[in-house]
Amino acid sequence: MKKLLPLVSLLLIQPAHANPLEVLHWWTAPGELEAQAILKEALAQQNVDWKNFAIVGAGGNSALRVLQMRALSGNPPDAAQIKGPDIAEWAKMGLLKNIESFVPVKFLDKHLPDIVKKTVRYNNHYMALPLNIHRVNWLWLNKAIFDELQLVPPKTWKQFFIVADKIKQAGYLPLAHGGTAWQDSLLFESVALSLLGADKYRQAFVEFDKTILTSAEMIAVFKKFKQLNLYISKEMQGKDWTFSSQMISDKKAAMLFMGDWVKGMWHASGKVAMQDYLCVDVPESAGLFSYNIDSFVFFNKNSNDLENSNSQTFAHTLLSREFQNNFNIEKGSIPVRLNMDMQAFDSCSQKSYYDFNHAQLVPSFSQNMASSSYLQNEMNKIISYYFNNEEVSAEQTVKRLSLAIRALNK
Ligand code: GAL
Repeated sequence: MKKLLPLVSLLLIQPAHANPLEVLHWWTAPGELEAQAILKEALAQQNVDWKNFAIVGAGGNSALRVLQMRALSGNPPDAAQIKGPDIAEWAKMGLLKNIESFVPVKFLDKHLPDIVKKTVRYNNHYMALPLNIHRVNWLWLNKAIFDELQLVPPKTWKQFFIVADKIKQAGYLPLAHGGTAWQDSLLFESVALSLLGADKYRQAFVEFDKTILTSAEMIAVFKKFKQLNLYISKEMQGKDWTFSSQMISDKKAAMLFMGDWVKGMWHASGKVAMQDYLCVDVPESAGLFSYNIDSFVFFNKNSNDLENSNSQTFAHTLLSREFQNNFNIEKGSIPVRLNMDMQAFDSCSQKSYYDFNHAQLVPSFSQNMASSSYLQNEMNKIISYYFNNEEVSAEQTVKRLSLAIRALNK
């Protein structure tokens, strides 16, 4: 009998067969990888074996194209990084699990902010699991250059251009900017939000109001946007956000307009907020918060029987204070859970969390939070074509944008 005991006890402590979960996503950069490792470990505790199906970069555009091909060929992954209005697009096709079968609704109702609930629900059901909130309207500054040139972080666009000219005269590249359509669109969004304000931004990019889209104000936004072209390097054409972020790290450029996933990348390489870099509002956008909520959908497939994982703990783990703390410090985002203690976060994230709860919130249209990714991509192309072609006028562009939205926003 004694001989049997070790064998029996071994069998007893063996974890039940872990449920494999193939996940399509685009978290392949430093910071994203560290955050993903925390997520994989947390799921392993729920007996869920996260299997990477990662498609590099481009802010997710490449990943979403691959997802469409796999789903249309009847072979979707078990889960995918889908966010914003795309959740409803996929849910309408009947391809998604209602996550309430393995995540307690009461728990989500209690711990998620209203805007997050609104974003991940469709037809009164939770159809995606939210993990984190990124802020998009940030201006990042290389602290060494600002100290060396004794520059004050710009709060207005007038101050921004004065600072940019001083940086240029000192021989530094004023603005790191990766030249791809989604990054041009993010840069445009930052200018548009700051000059239009929350209400007109929503009318233009959420309600697609033709009058605002073709107004003199919108033409002025496009002209201000194009002025930024004078401060970037043409050698960055086609480079993803990781390159422009690295230029700030390496003191090769002084400023960067980008979402705070760059903070995750800098954290991964040991850079420290307020020591190596500063985080400030996009000029004239203080009190405004352009949000980007990362979430995952789960496809209707027999293979991923998440219902068998201990559903009471699945959400409790991913929305636990501990996970939300550790995951978001690596990702550069803020917790999606309400009432978090932000002591462990740096002052940039503490500002972001405070502003999320006090500022005017708008969905980031460049990050797929205000329209389907299909319409999003067409808008990106029109905005990017204007930014990169001298001969294209703002007047032509607002008309093109308005027509494209009217044609595609069905
Ligand atoms: C966004 C995503 C972020 C980050 C960023 C850069 O779309 O929501 O989590 O991954 O792309 O890749």
